[in-house]
Amino acid sequence: MDVRIVWEGLDRETLTHPGVRLSYLLIKEGIDFPLPCGGEGICGKCRVRFLENPPAPSDVEKKLLSPRDIQQGVRLACCSVVTQDARVELLHGAYAVPPETLLPLKGLVCSGPPPRSGSKALALDLGTTTLALSRLDLHGREREEALALPNPQSLWGRDVVSRVKAAMEGNREAMVRAFWRIVLPQIRGCSYMVVSGNSVMETLLAGYPLDSLARYPFRAPFAGGEWREEPFPHYLMPLVGCFVGGDAASLILLLDVMGVREKGVALDLGTNAEVLVWSSRGMWAASAPAGPAFEGMGISSGIGLSPGAVMMVEREKGGLYFKTINGESPEGFCGSGFVSLVSLLLREGVIDPSGRMKEEGELSPFWRSRREGGGLFLGPGLSFTQEDVRKLQLAKGAVTSALKVLLPLAGLDKEAFSLYVAGAFGSSLEPHDLVTLGLIPRWVGEVVTLGNASLMGAEAVALSEGCLRRVGELVSRVKVVDLVNQDKYQEIYLESLSFEPW
Ligand code: FES
Repeated sequence: MDVRIVWEGLDRETLTHPGVRLSYLLIKEGIDFPLPCGGEGICGKCRVRFLENPPAPSDVEKKLLSPRDIQQGVRLACCSVVTQDARVELLHGAYAVPPETLLPLKGLVCSGPPPRSGSKALALDLGTTTLALSRLDLHGREREEALALPNPQSLWGRDVVSRVKAAMEGNREAMVRAFWRIVLPQIRGCSYMVVSGNSVMETLLAGYPLDSLARYPFRAPFAGGEWREEPFPHYLMPLVGCFVGGDAASLILLLDVMGVREKGVALDLGTNAEVLVWSSRGMWAASAPAGPAFEGMGISSGIGLSPGAVMMVEREKGGLYFKTINGESPEGFCGSGFVSLVSLLLREGVIDPSGRMKEEGELSPFWRSRREGGGLFLGPGLSFTQEDVRKLQLAKGAVTSALKVLLPLAGLDKEAFSLYVAGAFGSSLEPHDLVTLGLIPRWVGEVVTLGNASLMGAEAVALSEGCLRRVGELVSRVKVVDLVNQDKYQEIYLESLSFEPW
């Protein structure tokens, strides 16, 4: 027999069969509701209240919610399985993209009118984990608002490999429908949208099968750089290569409109990280499958870029100081906070360069008192485990090994260069942390944090026909390097897993 869920305050209801998870229903209904840890039962932020018939709390809910909340019917959408009719109130909505991750639009935009007529347009960073969406005023050339929403496709896997697999198993159309259900309600008065995403995300949205991205020899069935009219006019950024996507194209465009020339390195540190290296010899790009650790996801206290996320950790006056987004009390780590924490633990000798967390007896009294259950307890909601270190090592190994292959091609393997870091990082990324982790070489020069370059590249194209033309030209000059086919790549990768500075 069907179960009826009434969404309190939304004037909507859903009929479903018993045994379905509430987060699945939210995504299926296209209801704007964030799942900051991708529905993994880690962040405790997908709170809803059952106004009648609350299901029995799961072990995860007992851990992440207070007894009082549980008693008042509060549950986690990703943990609650509906078994009978209920009225459900949503306790959180989409959250604003932290301003720390966006540069002012003025000075970034190429010449020329918008590519299509209208008074408003959307720009979208189609991330594997998060959709970052901005609404643009085309006349004033301004960003009116920028929102972060969970990518509803997370239901089919957390990384591109599992999404490709899910698409090949017959879920392709359902995944695309889930995307539009979340995005279409955001259109309000906009005439078109510019989408910037990695190769898999864009190819999926464009409606192509993903088989050729799943098997060697990998081949991209779609080059991007096209307008689509259904179900809403949207432009898909050109893809740089098979696994170097439209998000990398956005980064290249952003650097160009910022006036960056000469030699340099740019890292886009997302789930699918991208590495760009250029000099007078040319520009090279490679993709580095890093996993979600750089986004502050998939780790024990990761919450991504949301209010209260720790962006930086320091030891101060006999305690720890946490710098957070919006200055709110710390609730978990975003990418830069996670990098900052591991760097601090390396400097303090809590972790050794191989990534091993030291035993209690090897630690100073300060850290010994924070040892708990095989990991560290750093404050309410702020735990850290050996498994977290391993996840950062895998992420860092992917990026460092790509750098070790690309830097010599541009002649930058000994020479200082400017580094541009994009991705889900706050503005507090400290260059010395990246060197301490051995993520980048010691001879790095100036380090510039760009924030969400994928979104800003899409914004530039949405605002300017000149940028739309320019991005195509820039992408056509990039040489994409397939890392796994490089001489001794496996050796370079294994050596890059260590936190040894180089
Ligand atoms: S999304 Fe449910 S706990 Fe994080």
